[in-house]
Amino acid sequence: MEPFWIERWFTKYELNVEINIAESGIQPFTLSEILAMADEDFSETKLGYIESGGSRELRELASLTYREKDWENVLVTTGGLEANFLLFGVLVQEGDEVVVEFPNYQQLYSVPKFFGAKIIPWRLREENNYVPDIEQLNELVSQRTRMIVINHPHNPTGSMIDNKALREICEIAQENGAYVLSDEVYLDLKPEGHNLDAACDISNNAISVQSMSKSYGLPGTRIGWITASKDIIDRCNQFREYVTLCSNVLGEKLAIIALKNREKIMERNRRIIRTNFEIVKNWIKKNDELSWIAPKGGVVAFPRYNLPLDSITLCSRLAEEEKVLIIPGTLFGDQDTEHHFRIGFGYETEKLVKGIEKIDHFLQKMK
Ligand SMILES: Cc1ncc(COP(=O)(O)O)c(C=O)c1O
Repeated sequence: MEPFWIERWFTKYELNVEINIAESGIQPFTLSEILAMADEDFSETKLGYIESGGSRELRELASLTYREKDWENVLVTTGGLEANFLLFGVLVQEGDEVVVEFPNYQQLYSVPKFFGAKIIPWRLREENNYVPDIEQLNELVSQRTRMIVINHPHNPTGSMIDNKALREICEIAQENGAYVLSDEVYLDLKPEGHNLDAACDISNNAISVQSMSKSYGLPGTRIGWITASKDIIDRCNQFREYVTLCSNVLGEKLAIIALKNREKIMERNRRIIRTNFEIVKNWIKKNDELSWIAPKGGVVAFPRYNLPLDSITLCSRLAEEEKVLIIPGTLFGDQDTEHHFRIGFGYETEKLVKGIEKIDHFLQKMK
């Protein structure tokens, strides 16, 4: 299996830098902040195994975030990572074609490739604001296509599709007997002016993947879920019994509290993003070496820099000389990502400001 390059990058540098502004999440809540929202004391909870599909209560609460689904359409997983892994493992077979947006979060193309699929890249172009082109999708899909994989708000560019495009993608999949896997881990923090639906509410062959890690600011719970037809849920449940058996009881309890207090959590998280987005926007605007297609959603940006240095060299020198961590564009698997980097703006404002100052200092040195 190919190394997961972005994770290798974190492993190499994250403990040796002073400012990590590479993360794609929101500053995590503390345990005491979440417990303060709880309406019950669960200190007597038995630390045992739990239902392999997830507790009924969590599945019900998760299903309420969709229009068309009930608790039996939800499988609780160990983060979005396990959700995607199970779906590829169950639905993709040797020789299938899987259409995937590029650039992208590497799991979404390396894992189906591991399960034997031929990956067909659907390129998101900078000149199209990284919005996928539906006409091009029509050319890429055939009767051999088993799955179309989408991810909006998109990692690493923050691009978004609209509901018309989502419906068209689902129709194209349906006409060709394919599934849509929609990785929606950044979707619940709905950006203003956007009301993108969950794919699983649009079509029976569309599957939504969700997580506590990004929009909710709770990656340490390691809770995610798949929402899909009962048949897919059942097949993924049987596969997961070989992988993790069930998720963790404490993570589930915390996820239940978070879903019961969803609005409060989103309000805090949107506040962080609003402030930090303005800081990144003003920085790019006044910096002659940088330009960007501003992200429409999510918590990461993907600026282009105008210097004769490849992105691996730029980002490793930044980590080594300035002790600031960001991610080289080329780790998102596409040749067009050279001379870009990914920066996260969901963490502490103070840290972001300091990190930006250090990047500026480095860019000046390189001019
Ligand atoms: C698009 C996407 N999907 C899934 C994940 C996995 O997240 P987790 O397993 O923490 O839910 C990530 C993490 O960065 C991501 O960016």
